[in-house]
Amino acid sequence: MTTDFSRAVDLLQAGELVAFPTETVYGLGADAANPQALAKMFAAKGRPADHPVIVHLAGAAYLERWAIDIPPLAWELAEAFWPGPLTLILKRAPQVPYAVTGGQETVGLRVPSHPLALGLLRAYTQAGGGHGNMCGIAAPSANRFGRISPTDAAHVREELGDVVALILDGGSCPVGIESTIIDLSRAADLTPRLLRPGRITPEQIAAVSGVLPELPGAHVGGAPRVSGSLASHYAPQTPVRLVAKEQLPEVLRGLKVQGKRFGLLAHGPLAGLAAPHSLRLLPANAEGYARGVYAALRELDQAGNEVIVVEAVPPESAWAGVADRLRRAACGSGES
Ligand code: TXA
Ligand code: MG
Repeated sequence: MTTDFSRAVDLLQAGELVAFPTETVYGLGADAANPQALAKMFAAKGRPADHPVIVHLAGAAYLERWAIDIPPLAWELAEAFWPGPLTLILKRAPQVPYAVTGGQETVGLRVPSHPLALGLLRAYTQAGGGHGNMCGIAAPSANRFGRISPTDAAHVREELGDVVALILDGGSCPVGIESTIIDLSRAADLTPRLLRPGRITPEQIAAVSGVLPELPGAHVGGAPRVSGSLASHYAPQTPVRLVAKEQLPEVLRGLKVQGKRFGLLAHGPLAGLAAPHSLRLLPANAEGYARGVYAALRELDQAGNEVIVVEAVPPESAWAGVADRLRRAACGSGES
């Protein structure tokens, strides 16, 4: 994949917004060391200012510009999984603007593996890397706050319209759900904490760290440290109902009897099920499913359904990222 990154780099250096594909979802990029650019990014997303944003780097070599007290495990995880869909939460370096950390003393960092993202980061770094030569691009998912993350350039246009100066088009994102987030900012003797499940599983982390990270839900209360941890994040506008495989026939029959227009997002055999108004069938493996899930929800959301029924996914660890996003899509929609 070859792309001329010079326009994108110029725009970022001038404090403008550039959307770009990562292996997970599309990001809405801004110079992470420029508070004005960050303000523009928050406004474009409609995101509250106290929500921290992930800073993207061209390589682990730039970690020390952004973080202090970096524990050995951070370097080990970076070595094992970067470039790739893992975000590390570390203690912020003094020069990191609070706008990027949501006022917190920690900062989220990752090196993405998508060739367009990495190419952009390298070109940006080579060109000086924005304010203070910090070489970080802040990029939340390129959707309006609380909505489904974009996995295609057309989704970004749909979500953000003309407020983005440029959208780099890399087709659809190969992972499809956001990066795994691991908090390493606590005291060195505390277990790393999984803040958001993703493609990289707790077992993969444990293979490097020797210990399973603490899982989400193991801690409660306080302000949301991860905006994706708000219960109703990643939600379509149409109510979403998560239904166990065994209950699907009965639930769909019931909707049919009520005359409801329903969409169905399934991954298993459809024999014996009442026909939905619109159907999206995803692969029955976690990776293939994750790749298609946001586009499928987006389509079902736009197809004039009164409710979207989602066949619940298996309980295995590989599915945890997908299960998490589906739970959030269903939450707060008035459906169970
Ligand atoms: O895969 C991804 O991570 C994508 C792509 C574009 O890289 N980005 C993404 O960004 O999902 P966003 O902003 O939509 O979600 C990032 C999550 C947020 O929920 C935010 O709260 C959390 O990371 N986060 C960022 N910095 C944090 C920090 N210092 N402490 C805790 N959570 C943090
Ligand atoms: Mg997001």
